[in-house]
Amino acid sequence: MKAEGIALVTGASRGIGRAVALELAGRGFEVVASMRDPTRGADLPGLAADAGGRLCVARLDVEDPATIAIPDGLRVLVNNAGVEGEYLSVEDAPASLWRRLFETNVFGLVETTRRALPVLRASGGGVVCNVTTSSLLFPMPLYAAYRASKAAVSALGESLRAEVTGHGIRVLEILPGPIETDMLAGSDRLPESAANEAYRAVSAWAWEQRKGVGPLVTPAPRAAAAIADAILDDDAPLRVGCDPLATGALEAWRTTADEDLMAGLLAGLPPVAK
Ligand SMILES: NC(=O)c1ccc[n+]([C@@H]2O[C@H](COP(=O)([O-])OP(=O)(O)OC[C@H]3O[C@@H](n4cnc5c(N)ncnc54)[C@H](OP(=O)(O)O)[C@@H]3O)[C@@H](O)[C@H]2O)c1
Repeated sequence: MKAEGIALVTGASRGIGRAVALELAGRGFEVVASMRDPTRGADLPGLAADAGGRLCVARLDVEDPATIAIPDGLRVLVNNAGVEGEYLSVEDAPASLWRRLFETNVFGLVETTRRALPVLRASGGGVVCNVTTSSLLFPMPLYAAYRASKAAVSALGESLRAEVTGHGIRVLEILPGPIETDMLAGSDRLPESAANEAYRAVSAWAWEQRKGVGPLVTPAPRAAAAIADAILDDDAPLRVGCDPLATGALEAWRTTADEDLMAGLLAGLPPVAK
């Protein structure tokens, strides 16, 4: 597609969303950088203008339908807003954690998307870009609630693709690996599941795995450039990485039987003290 018309980005106050909003403005889209608190994006229009782009900030909380306004002329929707939570085993994670993650990552995204689709159709088509996670490609313990919320988005994206391709709307799923943002920084901790003796060893192991991604962290502007490339590429596949770790993991996922991937991870798990 050509970089023209309006692009709406959710969760553009910081991190990947902020970088994508600036990148899309630099490529030629008129960007609506949406966020819960618009004061957090006060510098964005000036930064975009300095690079010759056009960007405005709008209040949009994906959990508050009254704030979800879709601009006429929309060509690209980037469903980026997302949250993580406590890293707990399935046994210990309360329903409130699952509900909190699904409220933002799934229901908020669904409401934004269903409102955007008729506008995208009226614009003659465009792109719905959903940001999930490359952790979907690894059977990581203690991330079940977060991964399940993103897997729901992945599944809805497949169905949506089949529903709207005939309307000229392309569905894209970005599976980021470790991108340098507040969310990634916040994940550098011993999982809360360590409070339960039964999951202490796997919690320590998971934290070691998390520390291991250090050299593989990608700056948000570089990830945003890869996301913009995929948005503009009409031949991009449904699932795309935006950093070297995710791109490699996606390739392995596409070419390795799921049981073999699982066996590789299970073989590395620590023994459980009984
Ligand atoms: N960074 C990574 O390594 C990584 C890896 C895999 C996937 N991801 C995914 O990439 C996306 C962006 O993550 P990030 O790393 O940039 O995270 P981040 O730095 O924590 O930023 C999250 C963004 O989502 C917004 N948000 C949260 N709840 C919202 C709501 N109800 N309505 C509107 N906006 C809301 C936040 O707004 P406030 O400022 O108002 O809180 C913030 O702008 C997420 O979907 C995340 O799951 C990130």
